[in-house]
Amino acid sequence: MKRMHFFVIAGVVLSALAVALSRPLIAAEPPETSAAAVDSKSGDGALFIAFVPVLRHPRCMNCHSKGDYPRQGDDSHRHTMLVKRGPAGFGVTAVKCSTCHQDHNLWDAHLPPGAPEWHLPSPSMPMIWEGLTDAQLCQSIKDPKQNKGRNIDQLVEHLTEDKLVAWGWNPGPRRNAVPIPHDDFSAKVKQWQAAGAPCPAR
Ligand code: HEC
Ligand code: HEC
Repeated sequence: MKRMHFFVIAGVVLSALAVALSRPLIAAEPPETSAAAVDSKSGDGALFIAFVPVLRHPRCMNCHSKGDYPRQGDDSHRHTMLVKRGPAGFGVTAVKCSTCHQDHNLWDAHLPPGAPEWHLPSPSMPMIWEGLTDAQLCQSIKDPKQNKGRNIDQLVEHLTEDKLVAWGWNPGPRRNAVPIPHDDFSAKVKQWQAAGAPCPAR
């Protein structure tokens, strides 16, 4: 079975590579979106969509998914060892997250990654993004009833400065970081904030 998967994945990667290489070089990069183009589109949520790939990445989704347990890996499989959310998001008494996760990544792949206050959102406000459209995800993170009473400034501060969020850019050995460099991400989030944090219509 595993071997099958490998061949399927290798096939997909190779054909993607072939397509990429066969393209003329000049067509490879789309032109930078000009500030004016972004502005005129801010009403349709383009400013949010510009940074949503970070939120949708497994480094974030593994704690913001459905179910009363965290996920692991780029395939977001259920956390092993029956780890559960627990009454406050820190696990259940005997197997609290901090039994294994420290405030920093451990030195090797497959050892627990870490950041200060490593935990899941609590069951009363689980902050589940899985299954939401971009519009719903945008509304959800802005909604004080779902984001623990944060206003937009506090939300932006969380997105750009919180230590658990920042871990997504420094996830430890052999884990892929989120897809947009941190400076670009912060700039995009602040552009969105400056435009009044508009969400996609649907
Ligand atoms: C018994 C030890 C143990 C406990 C308890 C534990 N974890 Fe883990 N966790 C691990 C290990 C080991 C890994 C790394 C697995 C790997 O990379 O193969 C991991 C990985 C993860 C990841 C995956 C990161 C990623 O994006 O791939 C998340 C998220 C996570 N744990 C969250 C939690 C949370 C939240 C709790 C508490 C509710 C918790 N863990 C409790 C051992 C534990
Ligand atoms: C180890 C688990 C974990 C990881 C990984 C994680 N978060 Fe969270 N996230 C939480 C917890 C716990 C809270 C609630 C903290 C609080 O409100 O004090 C939270 C809250 C949030 C909130 C505010 C609540 C909301 O849903 O509106 C945002 C935004 C957020 N996280 C973004 C991210 C982003 C972006 C990433 C990836 C770069 C990420 N998180 C990765 C655990 C995690």
